[in-house]
Amino acid sequence: MNSGKSAEQKKRTSAGRRPAPAGRRVFRPDPGRYEKTVYRTCGRSGLKLPPVSLGLWHNFGGVDRAADGRRIVLRAFDLGVTHFDLANNYGPPPGSAETNFGRILKADLASHRDELIISTKAGYRMWPGPCGEWGSRKTLLASLDQSLRRLGLEYVDIYYSHRYDPETPLAETASALIQAVRSGKALYAGISNYPPGPTETIAALLRFEGVPLLIHQMKYSMFVREPESGLFGALEAGGIGGIAFSPLAQGLLTDRYRTGVPADSRAAKPHGFLQKSEITPERQETIRALEAMAQRRGQTLAQMAIAWVLRQPVVTSALIGASRVEQLESNLKATENRTFGESELSEIDGILGI
Ligand SMILES: NC(=O)c1ccc[n+]([C@@H]2O[C@H](COP(=O)([O-])OP(=O)(O)OC[C@H]3O[C@@H](n4cnc5c(N)ncnc54)[C@H](OP(=O)(O)O)[C@@H]3O)[C@@H](O)[C@H]2O)c1
Repeated sequence: MNSGKSAEQKKRTSAGRRPAPAGRRVFRPDPGRYEKTVYRTCGRSGLKLPPVSLGLWHNFGGVDRAADGRRIVLRAFDLGVTHFDLANNYGPPPGSAETNFGRILKADLASHRDELIISTKAGYRMWPGPCGEWGSRKTLLASLDQSLRRLGLEYVDIYYSHRYDPETPLAETASALIQAVRSGKALYAGISNYPPGPTETIAALLRFEGVPLLIHQMKYSMFVREPESGLFGALEAGGIGGIAFSPLAQGLLTDRYRTGVPADSRAAKPHGFLQKSEITPERQETIRALEAMAQRRGQTLAQMAIAWVLRQPVVTSALIGASRVEQLESNLKATENRTFGESELSEIDGILGI
């Protein structure tokens, strides 16, 4: 008897999804994944983020092996990581990380969309001409539409102005973030790399319009301490969450460069942002001293570096990168020892020469 279904429809599963291609395992996440971590409330909002989030700046672009990126993303989700961070320009080539992540979403995570916190940003150069970067309404809103198309999504959870634009009135940038939220293309507004003063101003503009600033994404690690002078105070006072990017200083605060520059490391890649010149003998000495201290705490240096940024109450999440599953798995264990005594904090500052 004819069931009335076309051959194409029969190929689909009862949930309406195509079956996984031969040789590709269907992704079934661990049902116990949410017992693996304690989620943290982002500022004065209702949104909870995992203590460690995964960023797709490096290792997920068109130049990378898509299968490796998929493995890392799915393992992260399996271990309770719900937050994945992107930007329009992540790749290389720019845009390819969003495209690749969109493929993973469609193939493996479509039924988990409501569990995921997906962020993207605009502000660094993305397309030619004066509209392809910075913080105008034109740039932010055009870029958001592009990102949604690449990601294959109707909305992102957090939309960021990626950097402070001194030539665009903050009210204009704020108006674009507000429109992104009111149009339903983003659920929350964020900013990244803004100094304390403009952070306070844009937070007030957004608050006035009933679209409070959810989060500030700032560079923060043992090697980059600027947010401690003013920014953290502004976030605390404004009820704004913080997410610390590059907490491992792009890999410097790990065992990666203890003795040299491995051929497969970020510093060795032509498109890697970490420069070989940053790996000096003095740095390596500092890294070895920090590593010895981490060992005494029963941690790897990477785990100690992540725990160290999370000791700040205003830092909701540490935003890491990873080039392989093993790095991710090991780094997520950072939360097992997040307490630092005063003497340990002073020892770290001493090693860093602060
Ligand atoms: N808002 C902004 O302007 C901005 C700027 C930068 C980054 N971000 C965000 O922050 C995310 C993280 O940045 P990031 O990748 O620089 O973070 P990171 O965590 O400081 O560095 C990640 C790199 O460290 C190395 N690594 C990680 N775990 C390791 C381990 N256990 N052992 C040895 N090496 C390890 C890997 O390098 P190898 O590749 O060499 O293995 C990895 O790619 C980005 O993906 C992006 O989402 C935002």
